[in-house]
Amino acid sequence: MVAATAPGKLILFGEHAVVFGEPAVSVAIDLRTEVFARPFDRWKVDGSDLGNRRYVYVKEALARVWEGGPLWLEIRSAIPIGSGLGSSAAVSVAVLSALLKMRGGFDVEKIAREAFEVEHTVQGRASPIDTTTSANGGGILVLTEQGRNFLWAIEKGQRRWFLHSWKAPKLTFVIGYTGINAPTGPLVERVRRFAESDSRGMNAVREIGKISLEGLEALKVDDLVKAGELMTRNHQLLNFLGVGHPALDRLIEAARSSSLGAKLTGAGGGGSMISLTERIEDTISAIQRAGGKAYAVTVDQRGTEVQG
Ligand code: PMV
Repeated sequence: MVAATAPGKLILFGEHAVVFGEPAVSVAIDLRTEVFARPFDRWKVDGSDLGNRRYVYVKEALARVWEGGPLWLEIRSAIPIGSGLGSSAAVSVAVLSALLKMRGGFDVEKIAREAFEVEHTVQGRASPIDTTTSANGGGILVLTEQGRNFLWAIEKGQRRWFLHSWKAPKLTFVIGYTGINAPTGPLVERVRRFAESDSRGMNAVREIGKISLEGLEALKVDDLVKAGELMTRNHQLLNFLGVGHPALDRLIEAARSSSLGAKLTGAGGGGSMISLTERIEDTISAIQRAGGKAYAVTVDQRGTEVQG
């Protein structure tokens, strides 16, 4: 039996803009997905067969790297599905890690590349930020060219993303989950249509890219007030791009008085918001009073890991 685990992620700055190649900043968090795998006489995932739509990422991962016989797989995840915390990336990374370990070829860069292809195929469009963050752990920075602490470049069509690590401090964020499950693909498509047909859309995308770089600098020098302001500005631009939701704004408004800043995280359209706060309990209570599910998560340096 092989066991693999991979973390979820938070995008601190730059979601959606990163699909256009703009800079973005993310961190791995201490919520993980676990996958157990062993050879079996027929295919089984969590006791059911592979045909179930829930397992579309698993099937795509198998199609990409598995040439062996049938497997028994079990998937356990602490990352809420469709909540903007990278649940699909973590499943893809953990499944690929288990498969490559069984094949004798566990390699973090290969896992990050294959997991991006899985997400891209299933969603139709994606950036490699979620999958690289889950594979590598810690802080990830996406840039338009190669800089310091470069990990790897990933290409698709005309796009090329340069992935870097950055030394993320052990920050705690409060997550507010709206309870609304919003699939990423259609939201990414909505932003594409807006940005490609209206220069105001593309300007917002570019401005988000600039905010990502400023936000990273603020975090590096521990200027959390500045980082918080930039998060709030980033959220306004995401709203302008059409990926906000009234439920997100309700939770962000509730968190405002106890937070340094707040924004949606991930694809939006529901899903989750994050608050940068030094008053964790107050922020959790405020979000709960506004109808959200709230909890604290901490930056995790660990990426994918395998045993067995
Ligand atoms: O909601 P998530 O965790 O799938 O994050 C999506 C992030 C986007 O920038 C919207 C898409 C992407 O692939 O980068």
